[in-house]
Amino acid sequence: MITTANIADIRTQVNAWRQQGESVAFVPTMGNLHQGHITLVTEALTQADHVVVSIFVNPMQFGKNEDLDAYPRTLEADSRALIEAGAELLFTPTPEIIYPKGLDKQTFVDVPEIGDELCGASRPGHFRGVATIVNKLFNIVQPDLAFFGNKDFQQLLVIKTMVEDLSMPIKVIGVDTIREPSGLAMSSRNGYLTTEEKAIACTLKQSLDMMAEGIKQGRSIAEVTKQATNMLIEAGFKPDYLEVRNANNLKIAAADNTELVIVAAAYLGKARLIDNLTFSK
Ligand code: PAJ
Repeated sequence: MITTANIADIRTQVNAWRQQGESVAFVPTMGNLHQGHITLVTEALTQADHVVVSIFVNPMQFGKNEDLDAYPRTLEADSRALIEAGAELLFTPTPEIIYPKGLDKQTFVDVPEIGDELCGASRPGHFRGVATIVNKLFNIVQPDLAFFGNKDFQQLLVIKTMVEDLSMPIKVIGVDTIREPSGLAMSSRNGYLTTEEKAIACTLKQSLDMMAEGIKQGRSIAEVTKQATNMLIEAGFKPDYLEVRNANNLKIAAADNTELVIVAAAYLGKARLIDNLTFSK
């Protein structure tokens, strides 16, 4: 695997593959890789000739009081896992390479509506940071396909909307959430949990399952949401949001919607955990 912080190196290698008529898939990450990230790489390899991965802890998507400095950086272990998974090119730029003018003078991409609510409302500017970095990385790598986790359901929809709105010639593919045996969605932020909190953390997924079952059985959304919120609070979470939405566009679920998603964000100790569950009614 070639590892480089240099934009020109990425372009040279990707162009060489292109000239051979070979396809290129891209998996953007912030590192501290776990099985969820690695699954994106292995899935990408089933659909493209080559996989490019980026590791960049993107300062633009972190709020002022968030965990930018504390975010785990584990490049050596990440590289080993990526080599084993079959990635061939790893882009590890610095903030200076990506944002030479600093964050405030940088052109940005805003995806309206969908980027402003749920995680966008709790984390103002977050999805602007995500859309801007992914746009930049897409322009640097110029992949045919790009792989994202369904775990970050709203992020995936923001990226798909950006690609469509800006006519980018890239196919965006969502990959199912990889979970711990307990049901807890794998996340770099799980590392902030104490052993005690880890034992409680699976309640988040359990509350989503309970809600989906209830709705399928005809219980009202308001009623199951209240029950799940209480379940989370009793377990020790501080819920941020817990909502049932239309799975196609994340709009508030209407009575006749059949494809639904339950989206949740909740604090557990120092960690802000997110999860979601899509289901048909
Ligand atoms: P990061 O949190 O490192 O996640 C990188 C990719 O891995 C995202 O597409 C995310 O949805 C996916 N992922 C994370 N946990 C997963 C799991 N348990 N199962 C399946 N996929 C999972 O998301 C980001 O980085 C950043 O916002 C980024 C898109 C790289 C832009 O900076």
